Amino acid sequence: MSFENVLNNVYKDNFEDAVSSWRDYSLEKYASVDNAIQKWNTCARTLEARLVYLLLLQPDEKLSEALENYRFWLLKQKTTIVDWSEIGELPLELPKNFFVGQKDIDADHQELFSIANDIRNNLRAGEYEGAADKASIMLDKSLAHFKREEEILERYNYPDYEKHSMYHNYLVEKVDLLREEISNLAKGGEESVIAFDALIFFLVNDPIVADLEFKPFFADLNS
Ligand SMILES: [Fe+2]
Ligand SMILES: [Fe+2]
Repeated sequence: MSFENVLNNVYKDNFEDAVSSWRDYSLEKYASVDNAIQKWNTCARTLEARLVYLLLLQPDEKLSEALENYRFWLLKQKTTIVDWSEIGELPLELPKNFFVGQKDIDADHQELFSIANDIRNNLRAGEYEGAADKASIMLDKSLAHFKREEEILERYNYPDYEKHSMYHNYLVEKVDLLREEISNLAKGGEESVIAFDALIFFLVNDPIVADLEFKPFFADLNS
């Protein structure tokens, strides 16, 4: 399974096949991932984020058009998690194969996952206010993480540093909307599950969709 295969399906408007092949590709490349992350619905959304990331690396009219079509299709799919069983029984943690090999970046990612897990525990225990408070802290820490990661990449002269920060900017723009959404965590019931889903989706966009790109770079530096 290659990423070419995923892209070919996207270009041919075979979006279901594109998501399935993206899921197979991710599983093959990164081996076992957290059960919530390998869900088809989550893969459908991480593929969108992946296409955005590719476009930032290399602007391309054909891909840009395909992304628009993909988004239109995605809107019609019901990809939001609305049921706790979708979130899974296992605690959320960053799988080892998602470590990029730079200790400060990896520590930040682990911390963000650990806060997400605390929020999940709060929600499962019916502690909705606590969940909303922690989510706000998680967003603040995410913003601080983007800055820290950019400083590290710049310091090590990572070649795609500027494009990576452009991707962070794209995520930063989503934070304002997300702040409104996470206030729903305090409401309990389905609204808090939907808000949690949005938060988790935001969380995986950085370490899983984009940051793995610099894993080979740090592996070379460390060798
Ligand atoms: Fe990043
Ligand atoms: Fe990151």
